[in-house]
Amino acid sequence: DLSGIDVRAEIERLRKERNAVILAHYYQKPELQDLADFVGDSLELSRKAAETDADVIAFCGVKFMADTAKILSPDKIVVLPDLDAGCSLEDSCPPEKFRAFREAHPDHIALTYINCSTEVKALSDVIVTSSSAETILQQIPLDQKIIFGPDRHLGGYLSRKFNREMLLWPGVCIVHEAFSETELLKLRAQHPNAPIAAHPECPPHIVDHADYVGSTSGILQYAKTMAGDTLIVATEPHIIHQMQLAIPDKTFIGAPGADGNCNCNICPYMALNNLEKLYLALRDLTPRVEIEEGLRLAAKKSLDRMLDMAS
Ligand code: 13P
Ligand code: SF4
Repeated sequence: DLSGIDVRAEIERLRKERNAVILAHYYQKPELQDLADFVGDSLELSRKAAETDADVIAFCGVKFMADTAKILSPDKIVVLPDLDAGCSLEDSCPPEKFRAFREAHPDHIALTYINCSTEVKALSDVIVTSSSAETILQQIPLDQKIIFGPDRHLGGYLSRKFNREMLLWPGVCIVHEAFSETELLKLRAQHPNAPIAAHPECPPHIVDHADYVGSTSGILQYAKTMAGDTLIVATEPHIIHQMQLAIPDKTFIGAPGADGNCNCNICPYMALNNLEKLYLALRDLTPRVEIEEGLRLAAKKSLDRMLDMAS
């Protein structure tokens, strides 16, 4: 029972006492974004985790992100407020099935979205995030055959943009799948001058209507630099919090799902973290992310390639 405890004050105290850094993704609740030392997209958060000199990384995000932090910073204690904060893309790609798929296509390299398990990273050649995928793909020789997993929408988007065939793993993000084209077009009719920004995890019937397609940080940057005063945002709606902080005089509207509002597009995994669980994680230094050393080193190879090729 945490009643009577000033959770925010305790987080502040423990952050110093533990020499902890709090990293948060844009899809986290506003109160977690507000007290984080750094808020970013998957690539930026990986870089921060790799560089930090803190003793503890408290990761307000999902499991694959905390795993990535541990892979890159093995000497740090990495805590995730709720270990059940998974990802539908990770779930769609069991390592044994991925291994069999790779073995069936020995002449292909595996270019793999960071939204996957450590085991799948270890079975991959190069990891990408939504902000680094285009730069990295362009560095791979045109005659090199590629397996892209687990997000078939990001893979399909890259394939169309660069006119490059890839074998796509059939995974999807349940959050970005839930946007409705019919409702989006209705919304756009109400705001004819508002551009649409979409994450590449969205299916083609959403991305095809977008004026800008990019990672969460890319979308935030677009919001800051766009000409108009209203933006329709086709990604997880918690990012709108950062837009309102950065550009308070513009209007941001979350793209709708089939019910006409954007609440069905809240990521249920990201939503598992909250202030109370963050406090307990800093107090007890649990739940901790631990990775067996052989597996960590194998996964680190593909992540290091990403960090090299993304810059
Ligand atoms: P980025 O923040 O890298 O765009 O990733 C989005 C996402 O879905 C994370 O789970
Ligand atoms: Fe996974 Fe989608 Fe949630 Fe991101 S928004 S963590 S891709 S389920």
